[in-house]
Amino acid sequence: MTAASLAPAFAGIIKSRYSVRAFRPERVPQALMDQVFTLANCTPSNCNTQPWMVHVASGEPLELLRREIPPAMMRGEITMDFPYSGKYHGVYKERQGEAANDLFKVMDITREDKVKRNEAFMRNFIFFDAPHVAFLFIPQEYGLREATDIGMYAQSLMLSLTAHGLGSCPQTSLGFHADLVRKTLGVDDSFKLLFGISFGYPDDTAAANQCRTARAALSDNTFFHG
Ligand SMILES: Cc1cc2nc3c(=O)[nH]c(=O)nc-3n(C[C@H](O)[C@H](O)[C@H](O)COP(=O)(O)O)c2cc1C
Repeated sequence: MTAASLAPAFAGIIKSRYSVRAFRPERVPQALMDQVFTLANCTPSNCNTQPWMVHVASGEPLELLRREIPPAMMRGEITMDFPYSGKYHGVYKERQGEAANDLFKVMDITREDKVKRNEAFMRNFIFFDAPHVAFLFIPQEYGLREATDIGMYAQSLMLSLTAHGLGSCPQTSLGFHADLVRKTLGVDDSFKLLFGISFGYPDDTAAANQCRTARAALSDNTFFHG
């Protein structure tokens, strides 16, 4: 296939991906997961170091986390390896607000309804009912440069999932309980948790899955010189 003939397929895949926030309970067959994660491993990285360390939780370990994380969250027990304030300013704050408003609109939740907003937020910690979560770790001695490799890996993985009829949601919130995740999955302390990606078959009937976010115009963020 020539590069040009791949373009429609690529456009189809990248435009079909969206953050899925409701999943059906069926597990993804292991052979399909092997295929999806093998393709994600094609991701480029600094000096081909491939610094991503990926732990996929399903079944009993995942159910344990689904039971234990929400109460830990309620008790305010947060152990993040990479602290994050969630505060943005200027145009970034506007985009953050727009994305939240678009999501709550399709879910029929008003700005004033703090209870429903909080309930929707807390669904992060039950992985939006997904049957699988990929937790993305990085060796502790690495920093920002290598973290960009993990970001690229994450996008490859999500596009690979989309191309195979699966959905995903990348979640910073799944980095809030790094100690609990490490303990449950038997991950050594020398690996730091960046974030998690819930994945599985999307529940196409769920209101949350009707949301599609907008993007800035090319001229807002991309500048061609020379
Ligand atoms: C690294 C990363 C972390 C994110 N964390 C969360 C999260 O904790 N909870 C959530 O519901 N969405 C989370 N998102 C999803 C974003 O809100 C979403 O990607 C953005 O609004 C664009 O929408 P789209 O993914 O549907 O195109 C995260 C996305 C990324 C890339």
